[in-house]
Amino acid sequence: LEPSRRVIEGSLLDDYQSWYRSCQRDPDGFWAAAARELDWFEPWSKVSEIDLPRHRWFVGGRLNLSYNCLERNIERGLGDRTALYFESENGERRKYSYREFLSEVSRLANGFRSLGVERGDRVVVYMPLGPQGLFAMHACVRIGAVHSVVYAGMGAGALAQRINDSGARVVVCADVAYRRGREVALKPIVDEAMSRVKGVERVVVLRREESTRLSADYEVDFGELMRDQSDECRAEAMEASEPAFILYTSGTTGSPKGVVHVHGGFAVGVHLLMRNYFDTRRDDVWWSTSDIGWIVGHSYICYGPMLAGAAQLIREGTPDYPDVGVVWRMVERYGVSTMFTAPTTVRMFMAMGPEALEGADLSTLRMFYCAGEPFNPEAWVWAQENICRDGGQVADNYWQTEIASPMLGTFPGMQARPGFVGKPMPGINVKVVDKEGTVLGPGRGGLLVMERPVPYMMSTIYGDPERYGSYWSEKLGGYLTGDIGVCDRDGYWAVLGRSDDVLNVAGHRIGTADVESCLVSHPAVVEAAVIGLPDEIKGERIKAFVVVKDSQGSQRELKAHVRAHLGPIAQPAEISMVAALPKTRSGKIMRRLLRARELGEDEGDTSTLED
Ligand code: PRX
Repeated sequence: LEPSRRVIEGSLLDDYQSWYRSCQRDPDGFWAAAARELDWFEPWSKVSEIDLPRHRWFVGGRLNLSYNCLERNIERGLGDRTALYFESENGERRKYSYREFLSEVSRLANGFRSLGVERGDRVVVYMPLGPQGLFAMHACVRIGAVHSVVYAGMGAGALAQRINDSGARVVVCADVAYRRGREVALKPIVDEAMSRVKGVERVVVLRREESTRLSADYEVDFGELMRDQSDECRAEAMEASEPAFILYTSGTTGSPKGVVHVHGGFAVGVHLLMRNYFDTRRDDVWWSTSDIGWIVGHSYICYGPMLAGAAQLIREGTPDYPDVGVVWRMVERYGVSTMFTAPTTVRMFMAMGPEALEGADLSTLRMFYCAGEPFNPEAWVWAQENICRDGGQVADNYWQTEIASPMLGTFPGMQARPGFVGKPMPGINVKVVDKEGTVLGPGRGGLLVMERPVPYMMSTIYGDPERYGSYWSEKLGGYLTGDIGVCDRDGYWAVLGRSDDVLNVAGHRIGTADVESCLVSHPAVVEAAVIGLPDEIKGERIKAFVVVKDSQGSQRELKAHVRAHLGPIAQPAEISMVAALPKTRSGKIMRRLLRARELGEDEGDTSTLED
């Protein structure tokens, strides 16, 4: 697809090739220049210190991520500009300038301090998408505490596991979220999680419903906590490699991994790509439909738009409620220039039909970014023709929780090849290898490996440096993304799916092991195996096979069990009760075989199957 003149002529980056090459030639010089765009309290002594798997950037430099989002912009004269527009599907609307946002954050930060939260302490945030969720994240980062946001759609088991693993002292939550015309109760989930955790001293509750009562002595009212606080709170000067936040994600075992991101490299990378890849400047209106529970909501809701000094819109609710036209009315109302969503959402738009967009003025939309799962060409072309009908551009980008910003992407003004994500970001050196580490050439699919670290990637896995180390392999030649990739002759990259037992349902990463261990925790279940099957809208859907004791446990009961513990996104679409699971002689469940059978495909090599 040819990009439009409008995008080519207006974009901040005019020559991708030479930009990429300048980083290849002199990485430290490149990153130092990118870092100088931010405000530092103290300069760094060394740009990078790499001793794999460990890597540090801007060594000795001191800065604060939240300061760079807020004070830095106020000092540049943007104090009265809008930082945030908020709408909830229930009709609530709010607007905050940069100055107002800073004042709210500062009051909450002082409130956290009054509860005894100190630099380095972990704070779990379990809140729906809304201003107070962002205040909580910034407030932590401002005082050097480490936030760990848990998606407010996860169940009590998942929440408790994350609270315990991070050793949080404080949990911040809301009583309810609003979704599809209903109130979703969050507080009972927190209450239940609290009965299973150790070490939490306070639970700060944002009361959105008047009827919500605080009962336990450890509960604090969010509004009251902020009420009498000063609206000035000096940002802590953090060493560049001190953690800013932890974000849990699924791996191949049943326990989630706490991915750690730091103040320096994260801020520098997100700021750089916000400008040169996401093409954002101060007069843009950014809208990402993600949520603070995911990495996109950290990099490109909570921090990115403010690092760029832009305005952004956040909306609580789903894109099809109250009706299919709501997204496009919002674009028109706020003059949205850039959107960021997932292919699943585009497929939902397609299913709603082009009528939903009719009549809406979408002429302000310049860029439409998609990430999180493979972007099928049909959906890409549909978005280009229908959403970007006034000369905007659709662009795929690929990254992961561990690497907090794009690794590959179609750049504004670059010719797009639907089916291919695009080209590497500066500093990203990727290759495709086979299981032995032999590099495969263009057109051959294999394991996608990144040769060197970049500043905006995780520094470690919280409390588990060994697990962090296992991402790096000398034999395979670098950092293992866990994905299958392929490159064409012109240097366009495609990412085809995971190479491990991680599923991607509607852009959400779900470990088969997480769902399996949850199923097995039900008293009726002896064994469980979980696979992903293709789904037209969600990309993948979950199917579980379970062996139960004496025909106990119904499909409905088991689904409800997963829903309560892990949350609705992990609930299997289908559960099938079987007498036994296919296993290798060494006892490993052959998920591959279950999948092949389900899809009517060739069963492949079954020589290791037990009799
Ligand atoms: O398998 C890849 C897939 O999503 C995984 C990362 O998910 P998560 O940690 O939630 O971070 C999402 C950040 C956007 C990857 O390992 N994935 C992500 N983007 C793409 C993708 N697969 C294909 N194409 C993409 N553009």
